[in-house]
Amino acid sequence: MTLQQQQTLDEQFLMPTFARKPACLVEGEGMRVRDDAGREYLDFLAGIGCISLGHCHPKLVAAIQDQAARLIHVGNYYYIEQRGEVAAMLSNMLGGEGDWKTFFTNSGAESNECAMKLARLWSKRKSHGGNIIVTLNGSFHGRTMETLAATAQPVKQELFYPMPEGFVHVPINDVEALRGVFEAHPNKVAAVMLEVIQGESGVHPCTEEFLRAADELAHANGALLICDEVQTGIYRTGKPYAFQHYGIKADIVAMAKGIAGGFPMGACAARASVADVFEPGVHGSTFGGSNLAVAAAHATLHALADEGVADNVVEVGAYLRERLSALPHVVEVRGLGLMLAAEVDATVAAPDVVSAALDAGLLLNATGPTTLRFLPPLVCTKADVDELVEKLESLLS
Ligand SMILES: Cc1ncc(COP(=O)(O)O)c(C=O)c1O
Repeated sequence: MTLQQQQTLDEQFLMPTFARKPACLVEGEGMRVRDDAGREYLDFLAGIGCISLGHCHPKLVAAIQDQAARLIHVGNYYYIEQRGEVAAMLSNMLGGEGDWKTFFTNSGAESNECAMKLARLWSKRKSHGGNIIVTLNGSFHGRTMETLAATAQPVKQELFYPMPEGFVHVPINDVEALRGVFEAHPNKVAAVMLEVIQGESGVHPCTEEFLRAADELAHANGALLICDEVQTGIYRTGKPYAFQHYGIKADIVAMAKGIAGGFPMGACAARASVADVFEPGVHGSTFGGSNLAVAAAHATLHALADEGVADNVVEVGAYLRERLSALPHVVEVRGLGLMLAAEVDATVAAPDVVSAALDAGLLLNATGPTTLRFLPPLVCTKADVDELVEKLESLLS
């Protein structure tokens, strides 16, 4: 089938929620994917940050093939191999005092749903029973109604009003505004939920001062700190989780994207003292933590650790930052590790750069009119960065 035929079918039978780029991608290996005409693209988007090990890593492929041939899904009413092992690996990665307990989901939004339900139940059972979740302007927490209400972006919400209640939004990095919420709503806040680096709105990091204040204010007021690490988690910033760069105490951590190397999976992890307010029947999922998803996560997390990916992210991330900063029209580079954005001046339209990049054999993303975002596989090398920069240089000039 030609690309044009695919486009016709898409237009007729798929809901028009995405403005797709004109390429039909059919296979991939490492940093590269190929389209149906055999054209190769260097991938600096990685399925929006999911392809942590690169495309079709042999260990991930083997684990999925082997598991698919044995047992794909039986549900959560039974024990299965590797589910507990993967949860134990996550607990280890999350570290700190005591164990963490995990609920497996299928997406980032579901991980955040679990996080918010858990925080409200914890507040009811163990604290003052407050139900407000405080989130930050410009955040992105998902597309379900509840995660959309948490997503403090009116343009995304207003088409679907009314939003679920119980959310208060404050500007990012505004300590006084956050303090003001606790003063205005004494004993009513269940949790502060934040992305340590806001991804979808253009890679905007929280300051260390704000993160520390969020930690202190939440805990001093009988509330929890939820870190939405759906995009920043699983080594994307050079540590297992971005909150670990700042020594703050997260109580609940939501993750997804890179956890199973591109296989759809998410997880909500919480400190055992928080997680234990759940009991059978209060939360659930049909597919979450299926045999196939768990096998994919098991292979991915082992390979990420065995192949020293965290060190690679730090080294190649610093190199990418340096090279992007020197490009023409780039006025600022933001982010950490291999989650970076390059802000271009107003003479350049970032979406046009993305379209031209596709023609030049490069998969890129623009989060706004002047923001290019880079989320390559975590196995990206300096040579890949050189190739990216060479192409970008000619596109920008
Ligand atoms: C920080 C954050 N939270 C939640 C989500 C939603 O994840 P999903 O699309 O898997 O539901 C995203 C997706 O980009 C995200 O970046």
